[in-house]
Amino acid sequence: MVPALLKWIGNKQRFASTIIGYMPDTFGDYYEPFLGSGAVLAELINTSENWGVPEFGKAYGSDVLPFLIDVFNIVRDCPDEIISYYKKEIDEYYLRPDEKYLEVRERFNKSFNALDFCVLSRTCYSGVIRFRKKDGYMSTPRGPHKPISPETFGDRVELWHRLLQRAEFTCEGYLAAMDRAKSGDLIYCDPPYTHSQGIIYGAQEFNIDDLFAKIRECKERGVYVMLSINGTRDSKKKDISVTPPEGLFERHLIVNCGTSMIDRLQHSGEEMKDKKVDDQLLLTW
Ligand SMILES: C[S@@+](CC[C@H](N)C(=O)[O-])C[C@H]1O[C@@H](n2cnc3c(N)ncnc32)[C@H](O)[C@@H]1O
Repeated sequence: MVPALLKWIGNKQRFASTIIGYMPDTFGDYYEPFLGSGAVLAELINTSENWGVPEFGKAYGSDVLPFLIDVFNIVRDCPDEIISYYKKEIDEYYLRPDEKYLEVRERFNKSFNALDFCVLSRTCYSGVIRFRKKDGYMSTPRGPHKPISPETFGDRVELWHRLLQRAEFTCEGYLAAMDRAKSGDLIYCDPPYTHSQGIIYGAQEFNIDDLFAKIRECKERGVYVMLSINGTRDSKKKDISVTPPEGLFERHLIVNCGTSMIDRLQHSGEEMKDKKVDDQLLLTW
């Protein structure tokens, strides 16, 4: 498993291999328009390099957060820059964590620069990147954990640097990114679906029906689309899982966090009763 570069709540690191296991053995280019920490993209490139499958062309990652996209570009093109920045900041953080955290957070909130964003993701509370709705201020408090050492971080950057040579990153909304996919390409979507994620990732407006409409367009021109829906469902209280439009998805899989297994469902919904479902994976083919 490719170790995480950024600490990021809700990342798909643990499920990445399972998700990749459902991709076709061969496809054109790979698009990930809700990139987040890039866990699936990195694991896909690693799997393809190690096992020869899936076989695909380029990997295109995109997200609406510009400083996040900058992190990936820096890791791909100038790894030493981010390694030395992290070392300097974390060495000081180990000595005076509270003061240092506030200093980095203040600086980030003035410049929104990628290097401080990376340090914040590693030091903030549980990797919860939370932005204040009214002014976009990154307001997450410091986490109680010890952030990974500069040596460990450096090793991860070296690994990601190698993997990302095959990738391109763009800061843009998912609609524009998905428009570029051609017949035979594959798109993996992991949108900020649940209520809580609305504020965590910068309070962007997100409407699942717009995404469903775009997925339909892609499917109709021969693009494979995979969609993860984070529908944690409490069988006793509320059901926040979504019902996708009739006929859009050909397969409906459940990723069960408790066992990390996927149950194939014949009739979506029915067998889910009384199960704690963490993630649904929907495929258009
Ligand atoms: C659930 S996270 C993706 C997590 C990712 N799969 C991982 O493993 O880390 C959703 C991402 O979508 C991004 N996002 C939110 N609205 C978006 C939009 N309209 N277009 C593109 N990206 C968006 C957020 O910034 C966030 O990084």
